[in-house]
Order: sequence, then C-alpha cells, then structure tokens
Amino acid sequence: MKSDLVKIAPSILSADYAHLGDAVTEATSAGADYIHVDVMDGRYVPPITIGAQTAAALRSRTNLPLDVHLMVEAPEDQIDQFAQAGADIITVHVEACTHIHRTIQYIKELGVKAGVALSPGKPIISLEEILSEVDLVLVMTVNPGFGGQKFIESMCDKIKRLRMVLDSRGLTTELEVDGGIHAGNAARVVEAGARVLVAGAAVFATELSVKESLEKIRASLR
Ligand code: DX5
Ligand code: ZN
Repeated sequence: MKSDLVKIAPSILSADYAHLGDAVTEATSAGADYIHVDVMDGRYVPPITIGAQTAAALRSRTNLPLDVHLMVEAPEDQIDQFAQAGADIITVHVEACTHIHRTIQYIKELGVKAGVALSPGKPIISLEEILSEVDLVLVMTVNPGFGGQKFIESMCDKIKRLRMVLDSRGLTTELEVDGGIHAGNAARVVEAGARVLVAGAAVFATELSVKESLEKIRASLR
C-alpha cells in the first residue's frame, strides 16, 4: 500500500482546548488530510467536548474536510446543526441510532458524507443492511470516550474482515480506524485494510511538533 493513498486525520481531542483553532491551522499546514472532531455529550460517553457552534468556528480555520465523529445519544437530533456548521463527514455510532438507515439517508440528503462507527464490541454484521449506503466505516480501536488509550490489538482482525467484505462487494467505502494509532502500529492497520488513520495523542500530545508527528506516522508506512 502506497503511503500516499492513506489519509491521516488528526483528532483535536488531544489538542490544547484553549487553542483549538490554532491546532486546526497547525494540522492543516502540517499536511493533514482531514480534521477529526470528536463530539461527546456526557451521556453516550462520560466526557463533554464540543458542539456545533465550536465546529462552525473551527470550520473557518481550514479548507480540509471536517470529519465529525458523534459520540452522543440520539445523534439524529444533531445532524442538522453539524451540517450547517460545515461538516464534510458525519459519523454516527450504529447502536446510538434508533433508525440507522433513515439517519444515513438524512445525512446524505444534506450533502454530507455519512459514516457509521463500530465500537470494539460491535460486530461487522450490524452494518449488513446499510453497508452499501455508507460513505465511511469507522472501526474504533479503543472504546470511545477518551484520547490516549491503548490500541486494542484484536481489532486488526476486524479491520481485515471488514476489508474483505468491502472488497468482495466492490465497495469503495472509506475504512477509517480510530484509537491508539501511532507510528508503531500504523503500518499494521494499513496492512489490515485501513485507509484513514485518526490520531490524537500521537499528533497533539508528544514532544514532537504536529508536522514532525505526521511525518513520523507517514514514514512508518513506507
Ligand atoms: C476516542 C476518540 C478518538 C480519540 C483518538 O473516543 O474517538 O478520536 O481522539 O485519540 P488517540 O489517538 O489519542 O487514541
Ligand atoms: Zn474519534
């Protein structure tokens, strides 16, 4: 896999929240492909992060796609707001939606790419009836809620199985991985079939600059 076919999506969850706009600007000039925005509501997961108003403010700091990951209960209630805020991709957790098919259709009707996320305990089969409808599948490689957690190794097998399903059906759906990704495991998840790598702590919580951190991850793929 050529490393330039792999996208890196820095997650601003691990950035300095007093300077979120600067983090977006820095990641953009450092060569990020997407800006990953983790939205948490204190119910689906314990922390509360940001809402659509902040996402709209961050929108003005980059031309890169805003990759919005909704870790919230009833995500369908927030789709309009995030679409208006300028999200390019909106990803919802499959079990958080009462009517996942309707939610996916609705996101796409708004002209936004629709993603579905699988937490580590959720099986690929839960996407069976909607897989051909979604633009992106996000395989969580940690349990949702916190940055800086340890990558769950057994998720490599899940990524491989999902890659096989997508390829066997001729689907070009993006396969994104999220959680505990760093230069030490990026090549393995790409080998398994991931094409978009979310990285939070490995980009914003190291002694390296954002640019150096992104280069380190890219170099590990060569
Ligand atoms: C976790 C979030 C992730 C997180 C990844 O619930 O969805 O996007 O920010 O951060 P790292 O790369 O630090 O695991
Ligand atoms: Zn995320």
